[in-house]
Amino acid sequence: MKGKENQVRLSMFGTAEFPTHEEIMIEYSKEFEKYITPKGDTVFGFWMQTLADLELLDLELGGLANNYKIDPINRNVELDGDIEFIKKRVAHLETVKGEKTLYTAFIDLYGDTNAYGFHNLYPYKGKFYPRVVRTLINAFNLREGNIILDPFNGSGTTTHEASLMGIKSVGIDITPMGVMLARLKNELPFLSPKDLEFSFEDLIKILKAINNKEWLHSNKTLEDLILVIYFDTIDAFSRTTRYNKKGKEGLFIEKFMYIKKCYEKLMHIKEKWNLNFVKADIYEGDILELKEKYSNFKEKFDAIITSPPYYFSIDYVGKDKIAYEYLGIDMKKIEAKYLGMKNSLPKRKYGDLPSKVILYYEDLKKSIKNMYWALKPGGKIAIIVGDSTVGGKKIPTTIMTKRFCEEAGFKFEKLIFNPLLGIRNRAIRGESIIICRKEQR
Ligand SMILES: C[S@@+](CC[C@H](N)C(=O)[O-])C[C@H]1O[C@@H](n2cnc3c(N)ncnc32)[C@H](O)[C@@H]1O
Repeated sequence: MKGKENQVRLSMFGTAEFPTHEEIMIEYSKEFEKYITPKGDTVFGFWMQTLADLELLDLELGGLANNYKIDPINRNVELDGDIEFIKKRVAHLETVKGEKTLYTAFIDLYGDTNAYGFHNLYPYKGKFYPRVVRTLINAFNLREGNIILDPFNGSGTTTHEASLMGIKSVGIDITPMGVMLARLKNELPFLSPKDLEFSFEDLIKILKAINNKEWLHSNKTLEDLILVIYFDTIDAFSRTTRYNKKGKEGLFIEKFMYIKKCYEKLMHIKEKWNLNFVKADIYEGDILELKEKYSNFKEKFDAIITSPPYYFSIDYVGKDKIAYEYLGIDMKKIEAKYLGMKNSLPKRKYGDLPSKVILYYEDLKKSIKNMYWALKPGGKIAIIVGDSTVGGKKIPTTIMTKRFCEEAGFKFEKLIFNPLLGIRNRAIRGESIIICRKEQR
């Protein structure tokens, strides 16, 4: 009742008088200050929005700090440990002991939590959030000298993030386009500034050369970079009329300039933070042939961070039709090697699951067995999966993945459900991070 008295005042005529706009704003800003603005010298980043984010912070601090206490109400943390190291590594804090973290510096400079470095080179389907990769690398306590594997490396989020953190990694993917992108992200940070000096006239000539299929460059990284920007430009035109005013040339130049800016920003941060990038090894290959083709990978890796293709919910290859046509690559052949795309009958039945789903699970199971083989005893694995819905039925991939991990010999540790915010379709609502350990013998 008391609150009501505060809100509605009576005028001299006995009629209600409401607070003015200014009064409301002042009250609101006091509330805001009290509840929303974090207090302390080690505070949450503004990008911490969900309960899953809290779990991810907890997970990474477990690997980074000696001791820590998270206060979700005041959005801050008390911690001790190697402060300089934590500042360079942590992915969920804006400041540590009063100083900006490297992650905050990335976001401030690039203006986006997912687009720093070259993570935004190309809109590859089913891409990871780089922050999740960083969190897992921290949680697994990986340092210089360790080595990570992503056998479904796609466009190379794991390998790029590991490289930015100064950790060696290996990425494998079945699609030539994924491999091309992962290699680019891997090589671009090592270019020299003059490599990217192209005038507008140069770029217009290059565009003509590409149209005539005559584009070549002595530097493979530059040749591929220009091609990828071209594919992205053509793809944008095929999907929308939004860019018609700019024209293909305009959009192509704009995209090139964007990548050049990404390079300059990365070099700025590298120097300021004294970072040491480490190149990954990227291979085009099939996880199902890991043992046969990469026998030296047996128990080689300290950690695996990966995400298999989701069952039929995403057309990974189709998205890159323009690129494959240009490169003269037969998409059908790539699709046939995709997890679950064998042309055969499943070994056994599982209730009334359609045989296509069973084939997918058989492959998933084998790929998890192969990952177990490649991981060092004591090593950790994080698999990120989602449950797609096919014909109105949920495909229980999360729970099956956990089961396959345990059957392969892994010890299950944790599952974190990460909702996909702003999701607009029913097929996938979020993804789960399944964390397991390979026990020491
Ligand atoms: C969910 S995506 C991974 C995306 C990646 N995390 C990224 O950030 O770009 C799954 C990937 O698995 C790859 N893939 C499918 N079947 C494969 C196989 N048999 N061996 C290796 N990679 C495969 C696909 O090409 C796709 O890039």
